[in-house]
Amino acid sequence: MRYAKLGDVPQKRHVQFRQNGNLLVEEVLGFEGFSGNESILYHLWSPCRVREVGEFRPIEREEWVPDTHVHRLTDTNPVEPGGDFVTGRRLLQFNGDIEVSICKPTSEREGFYRNGEGDEVLFIHHGTGTVETIFGDVPYRPHDYVVIPRGTTYRVVPDDGDQVWLCFHTPGEIETPNRYRNRYGQLLEHAPYSQRDFHPPEELHTHTDRGDFELTVRVRDGYQDYVLDYHPFDVVGWDGYVYPYTFNTDDFEPITGRIHMPPPTHQCFEGRNFVVCSFVPRMYDYHPLSIPVPYNHSNIDSDEVLYYVNGNFMSRRGIEVGSFTLHPSGIPHGPHPGATEASLGAKETKELAVMLDTFHPLHVTTDAEAYDDKSYPYSWLEPEGKFTGEGATG
Ligand SMILES: [Fe+2]
Repeated sequence: MRYAKLGDVPQKRHVQFRQNGNLLVEEVLGFEGFSGNESILYHLWSPCRVREVGEFRPIEREEWVPDTHVHRLTDTNPVEPGGDFVTGRRLLQFNGDIEVSICKPTSEREGFYRNGEGDEVLFIHHGTGTVETIFGDVPYRPHDYVVIPRGTTYRVVPDDGDQVWLCFHTPGEIETPNRYRNRYGQLLEHAPYSQRDFHPPEELHTHTDRGDFELTVRVRDGYQDYVLDYHPFDVVGWDGYVYPYTFNTDDFEPITGRIHMPPPTHQCFEGRNFVVCSFVPRMYDYHPLSIPVPYNHSNIDSDEVLYYVNGNFMSRRGIEVGSFTLHPSGIPHGPHPGATEASLGAKETKELAVMLDTFHPLHVTTDAEAYDDKSYPYSWLEPEGKFTGEGATG
């Protein structure tokens, strides 16, 4: 990320800084033991201040251990909306590096939330609103990735209307790939996005209210509740390289070629042992004998998850918007029968999909089992109907 600043900060770090005569409280929020990225925030109150320590609730994951090793299709459309921006998360897939949930929140949360053990990404499928954070407000809209670094106290205030989000949690950092950056960190000309496409918080609201404010911190694989005696958004200014931001997939500039381009050209982010790719509307390959849909591939050492956001995904049939496919390691996958032939001559695709490739196996939950299509592993048998669509995802 680039350097950003909002509100008032002193000329030098770690010196006296007053507002209305009162000494402000400096907090360095950083990673890797003062060697990684950091931001410095100036508070009205000590960030250590706690009025009451509440309950600690360990996170419980209900794993489904299937009897068979097959490709999976999970349709999230029947998932009932409910809960708030934390309790509404329905975990579907997870391993030690990443958790993938679907969230369709319907209620506002009273209290505030902070992930103290991992970065989060909310991919907004449907809905608009504001992620209110200690760094300032981050408005969101459909097709945004909202990246929220660990340590960020926040709450989500959705606008009216349906909200459907994918939620990622990772104990590592969410980053853009190094190969898109020069040695100074600036994004290179060949990167599929530029600094202008990343949006830090726009407005900082400093709250001076006193009273009881609930805060839940995810830490040590559980949720710890606290009550504070001040509004946690008490920051008058901050600067640095750590802050929440949005990147919208509509700003992802697809990299295309004469022949089929591999998934790394679609990469948006990476974390510890996984990558996040965005398949966006784009022109197809332009070699006279090119094949728009992908070749079959054996991702021997990675699990490949695709979430279908928009358009027509017709390297596979029977895939609805709002579905996940999970193509696990060790067995090949590819276009459905008829898809390759039918794709020839296609010029462009309108598809939008989010892909997650993990380098360690994913576990699935009982929630994923509830929406699992048991017929999907057989869907590469001869087609029942002629392929009519478009699409070259995955
Ligand atoms: Fe694939």
